Amino acid sequence: MYRTHYSSQINEELNGKRVKVAGWVYEIKDLGGIKFLWIKDREGIVQITAPKKKVAPELFAIIPKLKAEDVVAVEGIVSFTPKAKLGFEILPERIEVLSRARTPLPLDPAGKVKAELDTRLDNRFIDLRKPEIMAIFKIRSGVFRAVREFFHREGFIEIHTPKIIATATEGGTELFPMKYFEKDAFLAQSPQLYKQIMMASGLDRVYEIAPIFRAEEHNTTRHLNEAWSIDAEMAFIENEEEVMGLLEKLVAYTIRYVRENNGKELEILSFELEEPKLPFRRISYTKALEILADLGKEIPWGEDIDTEGEKMLGGYIKENYDEDLYFLYQYPSEAKPFYIMKYDKKPEISRSFDLEYRGVEITSGGQREHRHDILVEQIREKGLNPESFEFYLKAFRYGMPPHGGFGLGAERLIKQMLNLGNIREVILFPRDRKRLTP
Ligand code: 4AD
Repeated sequence: MYRTHYSSQINEELNGKRVKVAGWVYEIKDLGGIKFLWIKDREGIVQITAPKKKVAPELFAIIPKLKAEDVVAVEGIVSFTPKAKLGFEILPERIEVLSRARTPLPLDPAGKVKAELDTRLDNRFIDLRKPEIMAIFKIRSGVFRAVREFFHREGFIEIHTPKIIATATEGGTELFPMKYFEKDAFLAQSPQLYKQIMMASGLDRVYEIAPIFRAEEHNTTRHLNEAWSIDAEMAFIENEEEVMGLLEKLVAYTIRYVRENNGKELEILSFELEEPKLPFRRISYTKALEILADLGKEIPWGEDIDTEGEKMLGGYIKENYDEDLYFLYQYPSEAKPFYIMKYDKKPEISRSFDLEYRGVEITSGGQREHRHDILVEQIREKGLNPESFEFYLKAFRYGMPPHGGFGLGAERLIKQMLNLGNIREVILFPRDRKRLTP
């Protein structure tokens, strides 16, 4: 065992005790009669102090030969002393070099030399050695943990549905086609049809955390070609409001979890994460168009609210209500996929919603059409062939309860939560138009 403690685990109780620490060389200082070595690990930095009089000559000789980013393991005695910058130091008894780092490094892990995003992503493993980058991924881990915890508490069952599929769900334009033996297949854009099929199974409340694949051609700061979606579907709902109620609780729970469990990371990022008030504001699509018109942006009823419009709305809500999270709902049926339920008395409006975070859509969802014949009609209305949905439609013929759900984009959520400029910052190895390696 090379490591008994992370840097952050060394406390005064260990004063005078022997520990093993391991990590990457951060800095070396040679003052002649005393040599210092700082090692960084996942949790922080430790100082190794080697006074000539107190350590073996071979050890004393190793330190000046080390270079930044070499991997070392050190065994030594902890000494708490006000002289040390961190409050303590380790007097080494053994230093082992486990791996050498070649020079020059492709990226400065101290971040003093600024690098382009592409260079950073090409060398992601070194990029992560910067505490502010690692902090993002520790927060990401916290987010997924919070989400699982929340669903578990709410009585949801985790499911896993196929990622090689036969039909499109979110409109036919963003598919990655692939050969599946003698058939044509696609990478899944969403678990949509499968999570709905599960509503006919009696599982009642399900969630899935899995990648979705979208062949978006454009390069933006909020689109990826492979993203992680947090999907939920619940049966026996009376309306879309029940789904919105669950989603806002999930998002608030996740934010609170990150505030409580990732305080150190938020501090490294110098970011004050605000806890949202529940319930989130609900703004109908029609009302949103009125607000935009007042702000000088006319969008004809029925058309999508574009990125600029979304941003303007985000600014308006922040300015007038000091809120970051809000729902846009009751979108025109025309603008939504075939599976969304329409209002019986006002079929031009759908039981759909988006959740917006600082002017960016992070979720879409709604109540689904569970009545077989109406669903078939809606598939036709979208110019699609019900025959290609036979495996899905079958589930609506033998007892399908009313249901609804949502898809929450994990990267969108984390990007907006931390107010970062580019979605690529929150996924280890982004897949975009140009990136297929690493
Ligand atoms: O709005 P979308 O396409 O909705 C669905 O997939 C539905 N099946 C969801 C449902 O249950 N009704 O995608 C849902 C979310 C978006 O709000 C966004 O956060 C994320 O998934 N998303 C993407 N994130 C990054 N890059 C992309 N290309 C994304 N496409 C969707």
